[in-house]
Amino acid sequence: MNINCYQDKEVCNVELAWRISRISAAAVAQRKFFSLVLSGGSTPGALYELLSSKTWLERIPWTDSYVFFGDERCVPPNHEDSNYLMARETLLRRVPVSEDRVFRIEGELGAEHGAVRYAGAVEDLFQSLGMPRPLFDLVLLGIGGDGHTASLFPGGAALSSEEIIAPVAAPRHMKPSVDRVTFTLKGLSLADEICFLVHGKEKQQILKKIFSCRSARYPASLVHGENLSFFLSGVQCDQFTK
Ligand code: 6PG
Repeated sequence: MNINCYQDKEVCNVELAWRISRISAAAVAQRKFFSLVLSGGSTPGALYELLSSKTWLERIPWTDSYVFFGDERCVPPNHEDSNYLMARETLLRRVPVSEDRVFRIEGELGAEHGAVRYAGAVEDLFQSLGMPRPLFDLVLLGIGGDGHTASLFPGGAALSSEEIIAPVAAPRHMKPSVDRVTFTLKGLSLADEICFLVHGKEKQQILKKIFSCRSARYPASLVHGENLSFFLSGVQCDQFTK
């Protein structure tokens, strides 16, 4: 695990953008495509806008990329709470990734049906690419104030799911309080690299907990992998090593 700490949010986003660029180039060189799982919420919008800016556009092999979502709220794709809508507006409609390579979670189908459909679409794609199982070159994740990541909420049933994608009942304590579909821990374990992006001092306390104990109370603490990185800004990183 490595922790990359920045004072400034913009610098943090640029450093993560460089990481994405390197990972994507290596993936395309190795197997001719790059598979990227996007995070939702409000944090990644500025990163996505950066990636779709003129300077950055050519640093990611978008035409050779497949794009997925780590979680979705059960709303239509044009709803203001849709993670897909956020990603489409800030990134996907501005970069040359073809629509049939963007795998959105159909939240409007409801959590159960949406999860089954998404898992099926993911399996089918990787099978058609001749791969025995899905492989995500990079998964981007955020962290909620309660320690959730994707839509894996504290103590939730999805934490112990054996599927790679699972339905989640609306969290009462989190807005928007709607059902969700999420990558599970098993799904996240199919990632080659995972990068968390977290900005702001309001996440200081929860980060401290996540770095100090692995517990279902803080789902982000249960995400692991050989290549796990945190890109943090606006927090005091020296506190995490104490
Ligand atoms: C979602 C998420 C979620 C998000 C965190 C952080 O759909 O809400 O994907 O896991 O990444 O809640 O959200 P913020 O970036 O809004 O703080």
